[in-house]
Formats: sequence, C-alpha cells, structure tokens
Amino acid sequence: MPSPREASPLLQQKLKENSAAVNKTITRLLPDTDLPEAKLFDAMRHGTLNGGKRLRPFLAMEAAKLFNVDPNRSRRVAAAIEFIHCYSLIHDDLPAMDNADTRRGKPAVHKEFDEATAILAGDALHALAFEVLSERDTHEDPRVRVELIRELAKSAGANGLCGGQMLDLEGEHAEFDLGTISRMQRLKTGKLIAFACESGAILGKSDEPHRKALTNFAFDLGLAFQVTDDILDVEGDPAETGKDQGKDAAAGKSTFVSTMGKEQAKSRAEMLVQQASRHLNIFGSRADTLREIAEYVLQRRA
Ligand code: IPE
Ligand code: IPE
Ligand code: MG
Ligand code: MG
Ligand code: MG
Repeated sequence: MPSPREASPLLQQKLKENSAAVNKTITRLLPDTDLPEAKLFDAMRHGTLNGGKRLRPFLAMEAAKLFNVDPNRSRRVAAAIEFIHCYSLIHDDLPAMDNADTRRGKPAVHKEFDEATAILAGDALHALAFEVLSERDTHEDPRVRVELIRELAKSAGANGLCGGQMLDLEGEHAEFDLGTISRMQRLKTGKLIAFACESGAILGKSDEPHRKALTNFAFDLGLAFQVTDDILDVEGDPAETGKDQGKDAAAGKSTFVSTMGKEQAKSRAEMLVQQASRHLNIFGSRADTLREIAEYVLQRRA
C-alpha cells in the first residue's frame, strides 16, 4: 500500500509529462554546435539535461494554469527558471563551494569538464535565462517581460539565492540560530521557488490577492523543500538522490537538522507544508495539484 503521502500515480504522470515538455524547450534553447567553443555548450547541456526533478518548472506551469496562461509562454519561463537553478547547482558543486563530485547521478560539471568550464557554463546559463525572458515569445506585453526579469533578478541576486549561498558558506564557521538558518534557507532556495509560482501570476496579470496567496504558498513550500533537502543529506540514498551523502555534516554546515535534529526538522517541514497549502484556499479546488505537490515535497526520496 502506498503511504497517503506518496505521490499519486496521476501526479507522477503529470511530473513526467511536464519534464518531457520542459526538456524539449531546454533542448531547443541549447543547440549543439561545432564551433571551437563547443565545450561550453556541451557543459551547459550536461548541467541542464541530465535529469533533475524539474520541480520549479512544474510549479511555474501549474501556477500559470490558474490564470489560463498559454503554456507556450509559461514553458519558456519554466525553462528560464530551470536555467537559473542549474547554474546555481553547477556553481554550488565547485570546489570553492560544496566541492561535490556527483550531481543527478552523473559527474558534476566541474568533474566532467573542468572548473573554468563549469564557471563559464553557469555564467552562460544565468545570462540565457534573462535573454529568454526578454524575448517577445515569452509575452507580448513588454511590461510583463520586464516584471519577469526584475523579479527573477531579485530572487537570484544578493537578496535571494546568492545571499543565501553566502550565508550557507558563512554557516560553516559560525553557529547560526534558528532564525538565521530559516532566513538562509528562504533566500538560497525559497526565493527561486517563490518566483516560479509568482511567474504564473505575472504572466496572467493576476490581481494582488491571488498573486500574494501564491507567493505565500511558495515561500513556505520553499523552506519545507530545503528542510527535506537537509534531511536527505543525512538519510537519503545516493542511488535515489543522485548526489553524495553527508556533505553538510562533513562541511560543518548550519542546517535545520544540525540545529534541531532530524525528527524535529521533519515535524517542521510537515507544519510548513500544511501552512503552505492553507494559503491556496483562495483558489479552491483549482489548486489541488499544487497542494499535492506540497505533500510530495515531504515524502520525496530524491
Ligand atoms: C537541489 O535542488 C538544491 C536545492 C536548492 C535544495 P533539487 O532537489 O530541486 O535538485 P534537482 O533539480 O531535482 O536535481
Ligand atoms: C544548494 O543547496 C542551494 C542552491 C542555491 C544551489 P545545497 O548545497 O544544499 O544543495 P545540494 O544538496 O548540493 O543539492
Ligand atoms: Mg550548497
Ligand atoms: Mg550543495
Ligand atoms: Mg543539500
């Protein structure tokens, strides 16, 4: 019997179909080349097209559905978000950061290629994300495109992912309290997940209450997601997570698990997911897939 929290076959199917569709868009945006700099393109493809759950693209697509956005548009935004996410993983794995050899069950980009190529591949994916958002195919209204660019830039920058990554590294040498750990996780993981959900509202020119509801949902979900990532670092199976285990403890990172222990961290994640789902009340049953995704975040093994 599957546990009540196991992703339903229908949700699994939806995740799979969405991954396939987003992969097509990513592949189209990252063509092969025989130019002398082909190595850079190969590294970008290695860092983006070798698996991954595609959670952020799924959230972006589902949020956009709530506002009846043309999926051809939201898929481009979904790909741009995944480019930012993949760039962050490529850089996160570098020796100067987490020094991880394996990602998504394959050699990390700096292992498959070399450090300089990994830095450049990350930089190029970062730039590509904004190029994609700026193009007319993403939305005919330039104000919408600018808002997407601005919000993604904010979620990726010093007050978002980069700031969170800085705190994460500082946390190797300092004892953070729970408030600081929470802020770090919200920045390094929560902000991009929040943008994924918010992008649907931006594309759909949503009113403020619906947009706010999605942002609040995503913010709690993002934190829960990082808490489960920290738990998987302790008890995950590398065959399922596709990454090395025990890296956080070995590096002396400050995480929810290091501070409150695994069991309390699990309760915290459950509480956050319940809280996240309550923010979706305004959408009624139309947000059921997003509620299911929140449950899936709790029971995920990868
Ligand atoms: C891993 O993200 C890094 C975090 C921000 C926790 P994911 O668990 O979404 O990684 P992929 O995309 O599925 O590989
Ligand atoms: C990474 O967090 C968050 C990013 C912004 C890349 P982690 O360092 O915990 O991610 P994993 O465990 O290596 O995937
Ligand atoms: Mg890290
Ligand atoms: Mg890491
Ligand atoms: Mg981790």
